[in-house]
Amino acid sequence: NEVYRAGVYGRSPRVPVGIRRLQERAKRVLDARAYAYVAGGAGDETTQRANRAAFDTWAVVPRVLRDASARDTSVELFGRRLPAPLLLGPVGALELVHPEADLAVARAAAATGVPMVFSNQGSRSMEECAAVMGAAPRWFQLYWSTSDELVESLIGRAEAAGCDALVVTLDTTMLGWRPRDLDLGHLPFALGKGIAQYTSDPVFRRLVEARAAGAGQTDSPPAQPQPRPTPAAVKALVTMAKAWPGSFRDNLRSPLPRAAVETFLSIYSRPSISWADLTWLRERTKLPILLKGVLHPDDARRALDEGMDGVVVSTHGGRQVDRSIAALDALPDVVAAIGDRAPVLLDSGIRSGADVFTAVALGARAVLLGRPFAWGLALAGEEGVRQVISDVVGEFDLTLGLTGHTAVDQLSPDILRRVG
Ligand code: FNR
Repeated sequence: NEVYRAGVYGRSPRVPVGIRRLQERAKRVLDARAYAYVAGGAGDETTQRANRAAFDTWAVVPRVLRDASARDTSVELFGRRLPAPLLLGPVGALELVHPEADLAVARAAAATGVPMVFSNQGSRSMEECAAVMGAAPRWFQLYWSTSDELVESLIGRAEAAGCDALVVTLDTTMLGWRPRDLDLGHLPFALGKGIAQYTSDPVFRRLVEARAAGAGQTDSPPAQPQPRPTPAAVKALVTMAKAWPGSFRDNLRSPLPRAAVETFLSIYSRPSISWADLTWLRERTKLPILLKGVLHPDDARRALDEGMDGVVVSTHGGRQVDRSIAALDALPDVVAAIGDRAPVLLDSGIRSGADVFTAVALGARAVLLGRPFAWGLALAGEEGVRQVISDVVGEFDLTLGLTGHTAVDQLSPDILRRVG
C-alpha cells in the first residue's frame, strides 16, 4: 500500500521502479570507472549472468481463494524480528557512487528496519554508521587480515557498535580476475575508497606507525603488488592520506601515508585462512558467526560442526570465480545439508521481491541485496536506498499475498515448479 500510495502521491522521479531502468539511470550519473567497478564481475561475467538465469529456471504456481488480505512479511533471525527476509549486503567502497556512502545506507536501513551489514571495506567506519542507526539492526562483515590482532580489534569494535552477527567472507581471500577494473586501471582508486575500517582502527594505526618508524621499512616490497604510480594510484594515496589525521594530510611524500598504503596492502587479506582460524574466532566472540561464500554442502556441514551459526550462499555477485555455480543453483543442496540446523542465507542476483520470494521458497531464511541498493544510493542517496528497499519489500509482500500466503514460513518449494 505504501508503495502504491507513493506512486499516486509522488515518489522521487530520480529512482525508477524496476532494476533495468534503475541500473540504466545509475550508469548515466556515475563516473565510468565507478560504474564499471560496481556493475562488473569476474572473467567473462558468466557467473554473474548465471545468477540471474537461475531464477528463470523456477516458476511460481499461485494458489487462489485463500484469504491473504492480512499478511506478515517479517521473519526472525538470531532472536530478532526483521520486517522482511531481507538485509543490505556488505558493499565496500561506496564513496565511489555517493559522497555520503555508508552513512546514507545506514540511515536508510535504520528507517526501514532492514539490517545493514557493515563492509570491512567500508568508506565510513562502523562507529560512524552505528551512530546514525539508533537501535536498528546491523551486522559486521570481516575479511581475514594477516594480522590476527587487527581481526580481534575489528571484532571487538563490531560488538561495541551493537552488531548482532558477524559475517566472515571466504570467497575473496584474493580479489577475483575482473577485466573491467583491470582495463580501466581502477583498482587502486577503488581500494582507496574502502579503508575507513582500517584508518579508524588503533591496531592498524600502530602497525602503520611501526612501519613508518622502521628504518628502510617503507621501501621494502609489500606482500601484495603495489599500485603502479598511475593517476588512480595517486588518488588512492590522497584518499588514504586524507583519512589520516594531523599534519600528514598535506604531504604525500611523508612516510606515514605511504606506510599506511603499504601496511594496508600487506595486511588486508590472508589467503591461507583455514578452519583453525574460525575456531580461534569462535572462542573470541559470542556473536553468531555466518560464513559467506559457501557453495558446497560439505563446507556448509563443516561450518556448523565447527561451531558456526549459519552460512550465506553467495558468489559475491559473480565477482570472484567466473563459471562458478550460480548461488540460487547451489541453494537447494546447502539447505538439504544444514537447513534444519541453522539459517541459510543467499545473495547474488536478487533484483526484486519476486526473487526474494523464490529464494525463500527454496529454503533461504533471508537474502542479501547487493548492487540494486548501490544504484539507489548513486541516484538519490539515503532516499534512493530507501526506495529500493521499499520496492523490493513491497513486491515481496504482494507476491506473498497474490500466491495465497499470509506469512513467510508458509513458503516451501511446493509453490515452485522447475521450468528450465
Ligand atoms: C561487494 N560485495 C562485498 N562482499 C563482502 O563480503 N565485502 C565487501 O566489501 C563487498 N564489497 C562489494 C562491493 C561491490 C561494489 C559489490 C557489487 C559487491 C559482495 C556483496 O556483499 C554481495 O555478495 C553481492 O553484491 C550480491 O550480489 P548482487 O546482489 O550484487 O548480484
